[in-house]
Amino acid sequence: MQTPIRFLMGRLIQEVVVSDPTLTVLDWLRGSARRPGTKEGCAEGDCGACTVTIGTLAGGGVTYQAVNACIQFLPMLDGKELVTVEDLATSDAALHPVQQAMVTEHASQCGFCTPGFVMSLYTLYQSRTTPPAREEIDTALAGNLCRCTGYTPIIAAAASMFNLPRPAAEPPVALLQQLQRGEALSIISDTGQRFDAPVTLDALADLVERFPQADLLAGATDIGLWVTKQHRSMPHLISVGAVATLKEIEETPTVIRFGAGVSFADSLPYLAKIHLDLERLFKRIGSVQIRNSGTLGGNIGNGSPIGDSMPALIALGATVTLRKGSVERSLPLEDYFLEYRKTARQLGEFIVSISILKLENNSRYGTDKISKRMDQDISAVCAAYRLELEGGIITAARLGFGGMAGVPARARAAEAALRGKPFEETTIRGAMDALAEDFSPLSDMRASAAYRLTVARNLLLRFYLRETGADDQEAAQ
Ligand SMILES: Cc1cc2nc3c(=O)[nH]c(=O)nc-3n(C[C@H](O)[C@H](O)[C@H](O)COP(=O)(O)OP(=O)(O)OC[C@H]3O[C@@H](n4cnc5c(N)ncnc54)[C@H](O)[C@@H]3O)c2cc1C
Ligand code: FES
Ligand code: FES
Repeated sequence: MQTPIRFLMGRLIQEVVVSDPTLTVLDWLRGSARRPGTKEGCAEGDCGACTVTIGTLAGGGVTYQAVNACIQFLPMLDGKELVTVEDLATSDAALHPVQQAMVTEHASQCGFCTPGFVMSLYTLYQSRTTPPAREEIDTALAGNLCRCTGYTPIIAAAASMFNLPRPAAEPPVALLQQLQRGEALSIISDTGQRFDAPVTLDALADLVERFPQADLLAGATDIGLWVTKQHRSMPHLISVGAVATLKEIEETPTVIRFGAGVSFADSLPYLAKIHLDLERLFKRIGSVQIRNSGTLGGNIGNGSPIGDSMPALIALGATVTLRKGSVERSLPLEDYFLEYRKTARQLGEFIVSISILKLENNSRYGTDKISKRMDQDISAVCAAYRLELEGGIITAARLGFGGMAGVPARARAAEAALRGKPFEETTIRGAMDALAEDFSPLSDMRASAAYRLTVARNLLLRFYLRETGADDQEAAQ
């Protein structure tokens, strides 16, 4: 008899025997669970029609987060609460304040996107009791697309839902506590597909070493698409999601160490402590739904040349720690990426943590992401710069770029052109010229090679202008 996964839905414990570990939460909801309120638009995390809310035990309470059900696998629900649009109204006459506000503001036309918007708004509603600022509403809704109503009434609903009486609802802490496993979840389906979710670091290390060909699974915001878009079969997934140690963040006066399983959302307050540009950049990764699921370890593990965290972390001098069996090793992040989609990770190894050096008083740091849209878009070019200055002279330089080569990389020739020189425009222009030695970017659907090189050059100049205040002066004129 197979071990069922257990989670809460409609405040009831669900026990589900998983026949396909890569069945998405969305397909399960619309199929076996007969809950068709959650819609499929894109099946790749872009449109938000499939948004559901996930409740997780945290600090004696329950934290609610919006995620894209289309790229979450069913076993990832184990030990959590799943809230869908069907759970909100107690009757046709007693809509949830989120739904009532959407009706009152005429915020729905064809209605296809509406359940997704409602769930994003519901998650926002759960996180606070007072109306949010417009910026927070925009952030909460950036991962939801509507083709016919337009956003003005939806934004009005987001503001007015807080004026309606709040339904009494206690978070189901005790029920969720019952569902927590002290030991690994292991599923082997009838078709031979395997899903393991160990709960300790040692057990994870043991599994990854014993099954080196298995794929590690974190937030599934990349792997989900391998299944839904590329129709890949995943014979064996080893999930890092239940290993609490991998979600820890440790801070010392000089370093912040992020466990590989820390989500983008959880990393934000710590990134803000390092530099606000870092927080700003990470807030542009995907949408709230993506940032709630996607992890730092997954971004690095995927090794995409256009992943956004890497340029920023490379410029900061981050190191990545890997583990195989009981042996750990650390290397500078830039050395992790060998060539397109080829990394230094050996078979049987996994990423344990990423350590980021805090900035010194004399450090200058900045990041830029160039994409066609502000939200929910992949970079054409991503850049980050860290300079150390002493008496106006650049004593050290680290420049990280994404989208310029087959891997996220340092611009070593440009760095050399900066080192030992005064921090002034002629020096920067020298480094801009040196970028052509560092990179021969590709042309693709996001940008041409010429555009990428021109943008990278100009970003370096923009960083200099920002740091010297010339940018502001120009804007003021
Ligand atoms: C709609 C959408 C928008 C996106 N926008 C952006 C964006 O703006 N910027 C950006 O950079 N990315 C973006 N992404 C990509 C994705 O969100 C990130 O790459 C994310 O960091 C992946 O993390 P994950 O936890 O979901 O990884 P998963 O999908 O679970 O895994 C990704 C890869 O990492 C490996 N892996 C996971 N954990 C480990 C570990 N501990 N050790 C070794 N390998 C590991 C997996 O085996 C896999 O190869 C977007 C994705 C979507 C769907
Ligand atoms: S269906 Fe579009 S984000 Fe999930
Ligand atoms: S109401 Fe039709 S897509 Fe939003």
